Amino acid sequence: MLWLFPFVLADLVAPFEVIVPDKQLKAIHGNPAILGCRFTPDPDISHLVVTWQRQEDVQVVHSFYYQMDQLDHQSPQYRSRTFLYNSELAKGNASLQITEVNPKDTGGYMCIVTNSQGSARALVELTYGALYSEPRLSIHINSSAIILKFETEGFPKPELNWLSKQGENLTHQLEVIDLTDDGLYFIKSSYVAQRQMVNVTFTLKNHLLNQNLERPVILIYDEVTATNQAPVAVIILAMLCIVLFICIIILTLWRRKMQSSSTATNYGVM
Ligand SMILES: *[C@@H]1O[C@H](CO)[C@@H](O)[C@H](O)[C@H]1NC(C)=O
Ligand SMILES: *[C@@H]1O[C@H](CO)[C@@H](O)[C@H](O)[C@H]1NC(C)=O
Ligand SMILES: *[C@@H]1O[C@H](CO)[C@@H](O)[C@H](O)[C@H]1NC(C)=O
Repeated sequence: MLWLFPFVLADLVAPFEVIVPDKQLKAIHGNPAILGCRFTPDPDISHLVVTWQRQEDVQVVHSFYYQMDQLDHQSPQYRSRTFLYNSELAKGNASLQITEVNPKDTGGYMCIVTNSQGSARALVELTYGALYSEPRLSIHINSSAIILKFETEGFPKPELNWLSKQGENLTHQLEVIDLTDDGLYFIKSSYVAQRQMVNVTFTLKNHLLNQNLERPVILIYDEVTATNQAPVAVIILAMLCIVLFICIIILTLWRRKMQSSSTATNYGVM
């Protein structure tokens, strides 16, 4: 009987607990974020109070008491975007779902639970990211240079590089258009190539989401473009020759005709 004692005691005095399985959570653009939170359950939820609150400014993200959602004091930032699994509450699950996550959602979230067993809290740190879309390439050619440009959207700001054939960093221009309403950065990166032959690689790293994109661009200026002009010139020259030849023939025939008619006229006069 004695050996059982510590276990029984441990069970009796088991403190009320609130546990978050993921203390660091990455919310991905376009997917709902589920902030997990568990507590020592009490099947009777009549005394249950669940409050999700931002750590930085204590604004209310979601709250539940009197056995229902209480959203009068909810921060407008979270309106219609939060959801508790109400049927799970009696089992000790106070996980919160947030939809349409955006950069402003980044930060600390306190899961605060009180029931007949006690009261406690736990913190979830939320980060937000969006995978960069497939970069769109455009090539602008003018008389002095070739400008390569990639455009893409994602979050947070990426690390961008243009690498030469030898793998060296090339100087490039970067334009970041501030956050769109969708919570994405619009990125434009361009590289000005001077030489005729272009062999470079555009690289993009989204460190938060371990996204690595490498997009090689190879542009070859073949002599073919120059020799393509040749047949056209030859044809034009040949046609000019033919026209000239025909003109000469016509002229010759005309002169002969003029001569013969003038002879005829002379006879007539005689
Ligand atoms: C809580 O319940 C939801 C919905 O069933 C589930 O997805 C989630 O994993 C649960 N969380 C915990 C911490 O048990
Ligand atoms: C471009 O550079 C890569 C990397 O050095 C090389 O493997 C590839 O053959 C080059 N392509 C051309 C067309 O020169
Ligand atoms: C290129 O620059 C990045 C920083 O933007 C650096 O991390 C990387 O090591 C550089 N690569 C080379 C080959 O110099």
